[in-house]
Amino acid sequence: MSNLCTISFPGSDFAPITLKCHQNLSEYLTIQNSPVLFGCRTGICGTCLVEVIGDIPPPQPDEQEMLDTLAPNYPNARLACQINLTTNLAIRRL
Ligand code: FES
Repeated sequence: MSNLCTISFPGSDFAPITLKCHQNLSEYLTIQNSPVLFGCRTGICGTCLVEVIGDIPPPQPDEQEMLDTLAPNYPNARLACQINLTTNLAIRRL
């Protein structure tokens, strides 16, 4: 049995997307199906900065350093390309 995780995009017109857990968001979210934009997909450009509601593992040190620079006032900020998808999430582009 594979676990599924649903990603919703509150505040946008995009419909929720269901993926297998642990799939990489940068491979499945596109400009056609989500408001999230990607650039480097490796955690260094900051293009995929989002606010996330959901109980996922915390950022690794490199991601945290980027978040501290890009969005110091947003405790729920994450880089979408670095998220380990472990549960349902709500994502809003920052
Ligand atoms: S796409 Fe560049 S940091 Fe995520």
